[in-house]
Amino acid sequence: MPSILDPLTLRGVTARNRIWLAPMCQYSAFAGDGVPTDWHLVHLGARAAGGFGLVMAEATAVVPEGRISPHDVGLWDDAQVTAWKRVTDFVRGQGAVPAVQLAHAGRKASLASPLDEGGGDPLTDAEGGWQPVGPGADPFPGLREPRALTTDEIADVVAAFAAAAGRADRAGFDVVEVHAAHGYLLHAFLSPLSNTRTDAYGGDLAGRSRFLVEVVDAIRAVWPADKPVLVRLSGTDWVEGGWTVDESAALTETLGAHGVDLVDVSSAGNTATADIPVGPGYQVPLAARIREVSGVPTGAVGLITEAAQAQAVLDDGSADVVLLGRVALREPAWPLRAAHDLGVGPRAAPYPPQYHRGSWRRA
Ligand code: FNR
Repeated sequence: MPSILDPLTLRGVTARNRIWLAPMCQYSAFAGDGVPTDWHLVHLGARAAGGFGLVMAEATAVVPEGRISPHDVGLWDDAQVTAWKRVTDFVRGQGAVPAVQLAHAGRKASLASPLDEGGGDPLTDAEGGWQPVGPGADPFPGLREPRALTTDEIADVVAAFAAAAGRADRAGFDVVEVHAAHGYLLHAFLSPLSNTRTDAYGGDLAGRSRFLVEVVDAIRAVWPADKPVLVRLSGTDWVEGGWTVDESAALTETLGAHGVDLVDVSSAGNTATADIPVGPGYQVPLAARIREVSGVPTGAVGLITEAAQAQAVLDDGSADVVLLGRVALREPAWPLRAAHDLGVGPRAAPYPPQYHRGSWRRA
C-alpha cells in the first residue's frame, strides 16, 4: 500500500503526495466581483508551502447566480482568470498541484456571507441577493424559494461549467473538481428528496444524474485530455428515502466511463436535518464502498486529523488520497508534521527549500 507521502499520478498530472487540501469557501472576493484576492494567494499559498500534494481552491462559481454569497469567487470572466493565474503560479512553484472546485449553489444561493452581518441568512434582491434556481420550486428549509430550471436553462448551466473549465485551464489549474455535493445544484438534482421532476432530468438514477453527466461530458470536451477531472459527491444524504451510497457507487462507475479520474467523497448537505454519525473518519466507509464497487479512485474527507489515521485510510484500501479541511486551517503545514510523525526525515519531506538549513537539514 502506498504511503500518504507517496506521489499519485492521474493522467499527465502527478501530485507529490496523497495529502490534499479540501476546498474551503473563504468569502473573500471583497468587491463582489468574484475575483480572488491576496487572501486567496496567502491562504492557498501557505498550504502549498506547507507540503500539500494538491491544493484545491474553494467552490468557484461558474455563473454569478451560482454563488452562495456575493463574496464568492468565480470563473465566469477573464478578470478572474488573470487573478487566479497569480495563485496557481505560486502554488505550482511550491511543488503542489493547483486545483479548483467548479460550483453552482442552486437553491442554496443568495445568502449573506458568514463574514457579514446576518451571515448565512438569505438575501432579498433589495439586499443584493438574486433568484436561486433548483430542480423544482421546493426551498431548502429557511432559504429562498427557487425557480425550477427549464431544460434550456440546464443546457446553459452545462455550457457555463465547460466555459469555466476552459478558463480554469487558462488560469493555470491542472485539476478541476465538479461540486456535486452538499445540497448545491448538481446534488439537488441527484437526490430524490429535492428532485421530483418528471422530465428527462428526474425520475430514476439515470434521469437524476443526467445533468451531472452532461456537465462532465461538456468539461471533458474542452479540458485537456492529460489533466484530471474530479467530482465531489455527497456519498449519502443520511436520510431515509434520500440519495444513497449504492446510488453513489453506481453513478461513480458511470462517471469513470465518462472520463472522471477520482471521486472525492463527502456527505449530506441537501436537508436541514439528517442523522449523521459524525466522528473521526466518519465518511471514510462511503469512499471505501464507492471505490470497491466502481473501481474508480476515491478521496476520503471528514475528520481525518492524524498521520497514522490518514495512513490507515490508504492501508485499508478505502481511498487513494485524503483531503483535509479544518485541520489544515489549524495547521497549514500538516503534511510536514505528518512526515515527522511517520518518522520521515526533513530531506524526504515536502519542505520548501527555504526551510532547509545547516545541521537541521541532516536531522
Ligand atoms: C468547507 N467545505 C467545503 N466543501 C466543498 O465541497 N466546497 C467548499 O467550498 C467548502 N467550503 C468550506 C469552508 C470551510 C471554512 C470549511 C470548514 C469547510 C467542506 C470541506 O471541504 C470538508 O469536506 C469538511 O470540512 C470536512 O473535512 P474536515 O474539515 O473534517 O477535514
